[in-house]
Amino acid sequence: MEDSKRENYIEEFYLDCGFATRSLHAGEHVDQPNGSAHTAPIYQTSTFVFKDSKEGAQLFAGEKSGYIYTRLGNPTAKVLEAKINALEGADVKKQNPNLRVSTLAFSSGMSAIASTLLGILSHSDTLLLGNMVYGATEHLAFNVLNKFAIKCVEVDTCNLAEVEQKMRDNPTAKAIFFETPTNPSLKVSDIQKVSDIVKKINPKIKVIVDNTFATPYLQRPLELGADVVVHSTTKYICGHGTVVGGLMTTFHDDVKDAVYTIIKDIGGSPSPFDTWLVNLGLKTLPIRMEKHCDNALKIAKFLNKHPKVEKVYFPGLANDPFHDLAKKQMKNFGGIVSFELKGGYESGKKLMDSIEIFTLAVSLGSVDSLIQHPASMTHACVPKEKRFKAGINDGLVRVSVGIEDVSDLIKALEKGLLQV
Ligand SMILES: Cc1ncc(COP(=O)(O)O)c(C=O)c1O
Repeated sequence: MEDSKRENYIEEFYLDCGFATRSLHAGEHVDQPNGSAHTAPIYQTSTFVFKDSKEGAQLFAGEKSGYIYTRLGNPTAKVLEAKINALEGADVKKQNPNLRVSTLAFSSGMSAIASTLLGILSHSDTLLLGNMVYGATEHLAFNVLNKFAIKCVEVDTCNLAEVEQKMRDNPTAKAIFFETPTNPSLKVSDIQKVSDIVKKINPKIKVIVDNTFATPYLQRPLELGADVVVHSTTKYICGHGTVVGGLMTTFHDDVKDAVYTIIKDIGGSPSPFDTWLVNLGLKTLPIRMEKHCDNALKIAKFLNKHPKVEKVYFPGLANDPFHDLAKKQMKNFGGIVSFELKGGYESGKKLMDSIEIFTLAVSLGSVDSLIQHPASMTHACVPKEKRFKAGINDGLVRVSVGIEDVSDLIKALEKGLLQV
């Protein structure tokens, strides 16, 4: 472990444990002194004490492991990073023991995404970008990366023929970045097939998946051919709506080192308290996700039969075009349900103003249910034509289904839909 490179690792002991055991135990005692606290404490400090000038010099020279300054690494962040290694990367490591899985924690999902892309891409490189990524990711690609002459080419990763064509048109593309399932239309891309197609044309390309909607409990892109996984921990990974944070995990040491350089120089490191809260949230990720998924399926089935609902987007429904792929690639179908109201824009707004229990707020993945209307909120600034093309029609509503009693959620929706 050298903090000049922010090393972290999977504790071998946990490789044979199940996901729930790893989410509780992995990382908990990494870099903690003997006889330390049962729950790793919060090292809420900006800087660390050197024993003497020799130790300070050794730490700066990378000749000795230890902590220097929280922007460069902090023991509380390291607990979280080690736990995520075990959750995203244990099976990859079991299949190939020579691989080293590393995670870096960030102050937001966007910081993780921007640092990852800035670490991997250089001037004049090409990035293939999924055509349904989070708005700020798209903005970053076309308004920030473009300043460094990085060419961004949009691609529908659900359409494998298009992936192949765009890759043939850009055979030296350095990276492909996409989300699955997508927001808010819950389209699913085949991670293994997309990886195989692009790597056949450029074996060095880095496949980067934003796994925020699925979490490692439901889907592990590194086991499916991806090279890098990013997360907004703001959502399910923290799970309680208390933190804005991000993560990047990879088994490529050169990617980890390049992205670490960006954190050091740009400063997207997380606060120790936030990483502590995220680590706490992770301990209940498996049981939370099971309940989110269970409730979401019941709500999707209810909405699917409702006379005021035109269409439901949820890969857990047997009639959803992405059902079979989601079943193959994911452990369960997730906790986000989107649906289109027959009454359009005004109905969407009326439902927002009348619904009970569901909190009217953007974001997702919290233990309690949230609701939003993309056309008047998150996607209001997207030109109508582009919004419609992405399937975000005026009556679309997105629900982040929480872990409440599902009968209460269905009653609230039933009552709210009477008003539209
Ligand atoms: C899929 C996805 N990726 C990334 C982000 C950005 O994360 P953050 O808000 O933590 O910066 C979001 C935020 O909503 C998101 O939904």
